[in-house]
Amino acid sequence: MTTTGAGASTFSSSLLLNPQSQHQRKLFNPTPNPIPPKQKPNATVRATTWTPNSWKSKPALQIPDYPDKNHLESVLKTLESYPPIVFAGEARKLEERLGEAACGGAFLLQGGDCAESFKEFKTNNIRDTFRLLLQMSVVLMFGGQMPIIKVGRMAGQFAKPRSDSFEEKDGVKLPSYRGDNINGDLFDEKSRIPDPNRMIQAYTQSVSTLNILRAFATGGYAAMQRVNEWNLDFTEHSEQGDRYRELAHRIDEAMGFMAAAGLTTDHPIMTTTQFWTSHECLLLPYEQALTREDSTSGLYYDCSAHMIWVGERTRQLDGAHVEFLRGVANPLGIKVSDKMDPKLLVKLNEILNPHNKPGRITVISRMGADNTRVKLPHLIRAVRGAGQIVTWVSDPMHGNTIKAPMGLKTRSFDAIRAEVTAFFDVHDQEGSYPGGVHLEMTGQNVTECIGGARTITYNDLSSRYHTHCDPRLNASQSLELAFIIAERLRRGRLRRGISATTAGFIR
Ligand code: PEP
Ligand code: CO
Repeated sequence: MTTTGAGASTFSSSLLLNPQSQHQRKLFNPTPNPIPPKQKPNATVRATTWTPNSWKSKPALQIPDYPDKNHLESVLKTLESYPPIVFAGEARKLEERLGEAACGGAFLLQGGDCAESFKEFKTNNIRDTFRLLLQMSVVLMFGGQMPIIKVGRMAGQFAKPRSDSFEEKDGVKLPSYRGDNINGDLFDEKSRIPDPNRMIQAYTQSVSTLNILRAFATGGYAAMQRVNEWNLDFTEHSEQGDRYRELAHRIDEAMGFMAAAGLTTDHPIMTTTQFWTSHECLLLPYEQALTREDSTSGLYYDCSAHMIWVGERTRQLDGAHVEFLRGVANPLGIKVSDKMDPKLLVKLNEILNPHNKPGRITVISRMGADNTRVKLPHLIRAVRGAGQIVTWVSDPMHGNTIKAPMGLKTRSFDAIRAEVTAFFDVHDQEGSYPGGVHLEMTGQNVTECIGGARTITYNDLSSRYHTHCDPRLNASQSLELAFIIAERLRRGRLRRGISATTAGFIR
């Protein structure tokens, strides 16, 4: 597991706020690790014209038009006065780790809801998704024998880009639902009006969620000694549950062996884990309101999450979202479909990462298996040809959404597996590194994606279809996918002839 002692101190640093600098919208950073000046991300870009609100001069897609501007301004002022949700030092740590994934030394596991919701905000839901991510990371770590970087689509993943601005039902046409931090999903006129107060509720829920995640990550729940206890109840009597239990048993035995040999297993490396948060950087007024200048580095960080990504629909070179992202120093994701032109990707990397810092850019490809085989190689070659370092990640969800006969959105496990397989094959072929996966998944026993070993059919979908947006893998499907990915990581490792100890990955 990617546990280090630093994990504990990073998280406990959330309590060390400096009220004075906070008042000045600066951020007290307790990590005594300033970046050397020559490595400062975006230093030259910052010196030009970027400001936290320079995005306002660019065309901004997918941002709602709030009817009451005064109300919006007063909410944003309130958010500006609130503490940051995450810390610059934590985001920098994640960037370092993603830099390792860019060159094959680690693997990113990023997952969570398509959209978090106010209604489903329950400790058990957060715990179950966190626990599933822990299980998956153990499976991946065992296969790849490399650190697994765990990042949740959690604690802030509310705003949704929509292809259609309107939704029509029985002849009634209303504005589309855009995520709980913007409007409501009930199909009535009032619910669909963008309400700024929702941003305050999203902030509060994100803070509480992160608080729970920090407690789970460092309070003993994530201890390797508990690897046997992470199985979710409904995976108990399943093929995936059995496979996991067998693996957990082997880990348990290995720890017993280490203890007998005199190696301590109660070190923070074994008893805590590092966990980061991420979401799509879509609702720019909210993201701007949570942007703070870091007193250690002098750089701006969007303190709403450690990592933020730009979506397929808002990544225009001259658009507002790219303008905002180029000036914040968080690690960034770029979603790319088959429509991404290789030259445009190179240009986007130049804008967002002018100093070519490893870990700054994660390219999240989401184009379906066939397009992955045909288009991804060209993106990899163009980026390599330009000498750019990025972390390549597969999102096998968003290129594989279909409509089931009864109208529900779904995805097939086979299509998801096929895209992941294509992603690994392409990297083998190109000699590049598969750096991670990005999944929509939940620890709940939902029936939203069809297929998997415990086959879910079209007819099963409606029984437990709870998502607020796109269909998610349930726990058993997620574990099954983790075993498939672990096998690819194992094969890659054997081909490269690396063992964990010779590579020095265990720490
Ligand atoms: C998402 O991640 O939920 C999403 C909308 O992604 P994309 O921008 O890739 O469509
Ligand atoms: Co989605």
